[in-house]
Amino acid sequence: MVKMKRLEWVPLVLAVLYVGFTVRGSYASFSPVDNYLIACGSSQNVTNQGRTFIPDSQQSSFVLQSQENTIVSTSASTAPSPIFQSVRVFSAPASYKFEIQQKGRHWVRLYFYPLPDSGQNLRSASITVVTDNFVLLNNFTFKNYNGSYLFKEYAVNVTSDTLTLTFIPLNNSLTFVNGIEVVSGPDELIPDSALALSPSSTFSGLSDLALETVYRLNMGGPLLTPQNDTLGRTWENDRKYLHVNSSAVNVSVSPAIITYSEALTPEMAPNWIYATAETMGNANVQDLNFNVTWVFPVDPNFLYFIRLHFCDIVSKAENNLVFNAYINSYLGYGSLDVASQAGGLNKPFYKDFVSNSSADSDTLTVSVGPDAIAEIANAILNGLEIMKISNDARSLNGLSSVESLLLQSPSKKSKLGLIIGLAVGISAALGLMALFYCCLVSRRSKTDQQGHPWLSLPRYGNSLTMTKGSTTSQKSGTASYISLVSSNLGRLFMFQEIMDATNKFDESLLLGVGGFGRVYKGTLEDGTKVAVKRGNPRSEQGLAEFRTEIEMLSKLRHRHLVSLIGYCDERSEMILVYEYMANGPLRSHLYGTDLPPLSWKQRLEICIGAARGLHYLHTGAAQSIIHRDVKTTNILLDENFVAKVADFGLSKTGPALDQTHVSTAVKGSFGYLDPEYFRRQQLTEKSDVYSFGVVLMEVLCTRPALNPVLPREQVNIAEWAMSWQKKGMLDQIMDPTLVGKVNPASLKKFGETAEKCLAEHGVDRPTMGDVLWNLEYALQLEETSSALTEPEDNSTNHIPGIPLAPLSPFDNSVSMIDGVNSVTDDDAEDAATSAVFSQLVNPRGR
Ligand SMILES: *[C@@H]1O[C@H](CO)[C@@H](O)[C@H](O)[C@H]1NC(C)=O
Ligand SMILES: *[C@@H]1O[C@H](CO)[C@@H](O)[C@H](O)[C@H]1NC(C)=O
Ligand SMILES: *[C@@H]1O[C@H](CO)[C@@H](O)[C@H](O)[C@H]1NC(C)=O
Repeated sequence: MVKMKRLEWVPLVLAVLYVGFTVRGSYASFSPVDNYLIACGSSQNVTNQGRTFIPDSQQSSFVLQSQENTIVSTSASTAPSPIFQSVRVFSAPASYKFEIQQKGRHWVRLYFYPLPDSGQNLRSASITVVTDNFVLLNNFTFKNYNGSYLFKEYAVNVTSDTLTLTFIPLNNSLTFVNGIEVVSGPDELIPDSALALSPSSTFSGLSDLALETVYRLNMGGPLLTPQNDTLGRTWENDRKYLHVNSSAVNVSVSPAIITYSEALTPEMAPNWIYATAETMGNANVQDLNFNVTWVFPVDPNFLYFIRLHFCDIVSKAENNLVFNAYINSYLGYGSLDVASQAGGLNKPFYKDFVSNSSADSDTLTVSVGPDAIAEIANAILNGLEIMKISNDARSLNGLSSVESLLLQSPSKKSKLGLIIGLAVGISAALGLMALFYCCLVSRRSKTDQQGHPWLSLPRYGNSLTMTKGSTTSQKSGTASYISLVSSNLGRLFMFQEIMDATNKFDESLLLGVGGFGRVYKGTLEDGTKVAVKRGNPRSEQGLAEFRTEIEMLSKLRHRHLVSLIGYCDERSEMILVYEYMANGPLRSHLYGTDLPPLSWKQRLEICIGAARGLHYLHTGAAQSIIHRDVKTTNILLDENFVAKVADFGLSKTGPALDQTHVSTAVKGSFGYLDPEYFRRQQLTEKSDVYSFGVVLMEVLCTRPALNPVLPREQVNIAEWAMSWQKKGMLDQIMDPTLVGKVNPASLKKFGETAEKCLAEHGVDRPTMGDVLWNLEYALQLEETSSALTEPEDNSTNHIPGIPLAPLSPFDNSVSMIDGVNSVTDDDAEDAATSAVFSQLVNPRGR
């Protein structure tokens, strides 16, 4: 799991060996805009490997927010390097919040060392670290780790004005950190896309993902420490990863002869990297099966970003060094002529790949070997970087998301007992708290302004005029609707009302945490239960999504779409108030919780409800709306299990009449993404249909859309379920609790419907209207069979010969909210549909 553990701190050795060489050329060295080097728990500056780390108590533009007292401890004797001499220990979740001047890729580097004389058993502490969006480290403990310290490096793309690192002690333990770096890097460093192998395609979307450095090697050269690298990176020697030691010989030249270009600067890698290399041990043997191979242990559940650095430092002339490079035995680059790619000898060149390590093995291999067309059989590799790519849960360690880890975090009740006796700690902490309080107060007064200048939504009435509508749905009997005849925008809440409703954002009322912010359960003055979504005030993405959500939802009103009750934008807050959905997300009723399994009929009804909501989105408004993030966590259930589609933050209005698609950057959730949209970046309603197909399979098989822990062919539910559906054996992988309780014809219809939704090409997929009709049909088949008293009739009641005209039960339901009460239409339509259906298909009725 932890790859940098063998990295050693030997600055002295390096200094002795390489005195006299110039590490940097004449290029202006990169100076990061954001450059936080923090020595946690220290009372003085710490110089570590040539760089100065400042104490976390000397806060300038970062803030330590801790709900509880913290302990600091310092020790000079045992620490493996100066940064490890002090530690800050937390017994409750605590955050460091950094002001970010320049958005884009940042290095986040973390140093952990369980100081033996801290007075705490830090070896058994549980370390979990999350950013605003990503899980970096999940429940790491030194107990099961045979290294004395842990160094971690991540590359995250910061898209807002702050970056928050939260340290969570899970399982009621302590957590700690010794040092933190948050440093901006050049944006060109990590591209958005790279060549994926097996199968060969372009992997894009890296800019939205987090990366963790697992290996960074200087082939044939010495360990390079942060002061030898303009970006503060560490490069280790490659020898111990060589598959066969004798297969490679190292070569080196003076770093001074390495020539960079404007496009490829020392930021890509220092000249030290390119000035040394491994080449073929027995160059010139004409054995084409020979190669130099490095083997790396990896976690097979992740994808990896791999960068190979080349520089022809061995040839006398150009075009002499032509060879093949392989990743996991797949040809990554055939007939690579390094000098011609780089524009000359001694010029650097690199190539990026994305690889999923072969799922059946937990190693990743990189090889270089001779090419048949080359005159001289030789191959070279100068440097290698391997970075883990965050998974579908936006995690680099395990399957839990930031939200679920924050929810698991222990109660914030004081555990003073733990820290009594540590006078130093307490006084330091009190100081911190006072400081934090001051910051809060000053920020409050700064931002206490009237709303958002950007939110050009017309205000109406005053915030106390809310009338509870009497148009309660007859079928579900309880859904509450707010009468919004005078305006579409919903009620404008005062911040104080929101505070009252949520008991000042009481954490015990937290329902969930998402990219946008936190969702709390609230109760309005009149007793109405609501869900209150509070955005991260300074997230630009949140801002855009907040606006989209209000704009979209204010145009829409439908029984199967979660209703927006109102919003609050006082004091720069971004708060949305929705109807409360008592039974939460569909996913929690499928797997991952102890909730009782849903019956087949319930599942069909939920899918039908969600399909109705989506159908309304696609066809109900003047311009169709594409949801773009259809998934089982965005389908919510009310107290009667009526399904409603939620989260319109990513929604887009569909193509205009004269166009067939919208071109847009790919957004959405992995595992649900329409492959065609992913490839062509062209969005149509059919992308939602694809995602809905994934939802259908998830509902049937009760497993996540992507589960990287499973064998490779099972990882992606769309592929896995389709392979069984094509064999007509979907029942083999369905939820075991349903086996024997589903009418086979109903299951068949359901499977066929999902299959059509998952068609490779959008044009081959049905519309949501067709999907809806087919699901209604599947429900009727199920109800018909369960209505029969004689079990042996089950197999013969497939309504033979009954012509089922494709009713269009939603013709009436497409009502925009301008004064029309869609609830009533919807119910009337439901009733009508059921009546027709039961006449048609219920054998008992005939
Ligand atoms: C600590 O380092 C910072 C940044 O390099 C510097 O501004 C400050 O003066 C130093 N403080 C001490 C006490 O040396
Ligand atoms: C960071 O993310 C933003 C928003 O997705 C994107 O526009 C930007 O290009 C990304 N930057 C990098 C360096 O990946
Ligand atoms: C590298 O050489 C080994 C034998 O030494 C061979 O089994 C393997 O297939 C080769 N790999 C590649 C990528 O050619």
